[in-house]
Amino acid sequence: TRRWELAAHRRLEKGKVVGVVVLDGWGEAAPDTFNCIHVADTPTLDALKKGGPERWRVIKAHGTAVGLPTDDDMGNSEVGHNALGAGQIYAQGAKLVDMALASGKIYEGEGFKYIQQSFENGTLHLIGLLSDGGVHSRIDQLQLLLKGASEHGAKRIRVHILTDGRDVLDGSSVKFVELIENDLAKLRDKGVDARIASGGGRMYVTMDRYENDWQVVKRGWDAQVLGEAPHKFQNALEAVKKLREDPKANDQYLPPFVIVDERGRPIGPIMDGDAVVTFNFRADRMVMLAKALEYESFDKFDRVRFPKIRYAGMLQYDGELKLPSHFLVAPPEIERTSGEYLARNGIRTYACSETVKFGHVTFFWNGNRSGYFHPNLEKYEEIPSDIGIPFNEQPKMKAVEIAKKTRDAILSRKFDQVRVNIANGDMVGHTGDIEATIVGCKAADEAVKIVLDAIEQVGGIFVVTADHGNAEDMVKRDKSGKPLRDKDGNVQPLTSHTLNPVPIAIGGPGLQPGVRFRSDLPSAGLANVAATVMNLHGFEAPDHYEPTLIEVVDK
Ligand code: 3PG
Ligand code: CO
Repeated sequence: TRRWELAAHRRLEKGKVVGVVVLDGWGEAAPDTFNCIHVADTPTLDALKKGGPERWRVIKAHGTAVGLPTDDDMGNSEVGHNALGAGQIYAQGAKLVDMALASGKIYEGEGFKYIQQSFENGTLHLIGLLSDGGVHSRIDQLQLLLKGASEHGAKRIRVHILTDGRDVLDGSSVKFVELIENDLAKLRDKGVDARIASGGGRMYVTMDRYENDWQVVKRGWDAQVLGEAPHKFQNALEAVKKLREDPKANDQYLPPFVIVDERGRPIGPIMDGDAVVTFNFRADRMVMLAKALEYESFDKFDRVRFPKIRYAGMLQYDGELKLPSHFLVAPPEIERTSGEYLARNGIRTYACSETVKFGHVTFFWNGNRSGYFHPNLEKYEEIPSDIGIPFNEQPKMKAVEIAKKTRDAILSRKFDQVRVNIANGDMVGHTGDIEATIVGCKAADEAVKIVLDAIEQVGGIFVVTADHGNAEDMVKRDKSGKPLRDKDGNVQPLTSHTLNPVPIAIGGPGLQPGVRFRSDLPSAGLANVAATVMNLHGFEAPDHYEPTLIEVVDK
């Protein structure tokens, strides 16, 4: 058994305030007109880069470096913050589900056996994001699950789709619906009554996060459970195509719809005796629906009807809450995170972000664990996000507010570590609005300056990094890297994350002379940051952590 006590670092002192800034969606890429970070005025980050290789470098933030199935998988905030906080690389949900489907073990687990009991007399409902983005879900996993569930006894299946356009190109919803409709037709040929029953755009229907806006979940509930929505169609392909005809429509924000029969009745409301699976593997945007589906007592919105169902998540979304209580695949057991080590070694921590990213620097950072390790030593502060306004219309978001709270926390001298997530590059980047993203990147840079100035005042140390790329590349490119243009010369905005590495910079008056980035870890990634931060707090990192990025040389 490993000890929790961390050894004192041989060369680095304890007692310095360490500011850890995570710029969300802030990758490193060559200068380009579609690189919003390059185009934006970002003097603070530019100055850090000028610190040279001893103080600035890039680290990997995608693919196998963060526990995703392949190096074609872009990074995301869940796996990114998991790696940053845990200091170790864990096989992530996407990969664990792949393995369980490939081996067939998914059908032997407790979760599947549980929902299977409803197959005889009830309908199996599958709710989730219809996308090959690989961030929250993957359509090929849904396809395998549809096939497997029917082979394991499901006779009536209803799929409730959420269109993406955020982790994938806008408009790709149409091809994904065609793909699933095709599979469902094949199942019908085999005598399984399988259909899409409802849908809506992920940002407007169901996939809210961190309890930002329960109305989003309610809109989904009404369509999926009650069979009620403002739009009714005979099939999902028609629904998506028609709803997209509105010039302002996009996949992320499609309004909710239900599929109805010839007499106008919904074909797939969720009823007593049914089974439900939410097939997203990622937690943050599914846990709210999981609560609505599972909790007997619930006051976030009027459910009208609370069907007696057998419900399982693709994964368990919250290990502390044990929610949902049934799941098809066991989530990664992320243990011995840096947050827990540091709390057990007396480090006082302050963490802050605005609502839409708050769980990233707390829940994800701490290995998908909610709450404090040591309430007396920790304070997590959430700045409420503005709801109902698209982020390209509020590109500055709460960056300055977060930075000012953080500055106050630093100057209070009550904390040894302050940790923030500044979300503009990501949240505005996901809108695909290039002008707005440039404004957002500038605001993020200003926020970083506020934090670094406070670190300067208290003689502290800073670590500025990011969780994955987004704003540094805002256009769909061909294989050679040239922006793809349509016949009118227009480019397709890239709303998703990227495969790019992210910067990491260290500095501040508290950084001892002789501390520099090692040059022997060229392919280091986000998981190497935790050991680095532990060192800066004056501790050696545990042996099983990915190696530190820094060394101390005599000066
Ligand atoms: C989202 O959930 O907003 C996107 O799918 C991924 O963004 P994030 O990983 O930066 O949260
Ligand atoms: Co993002």
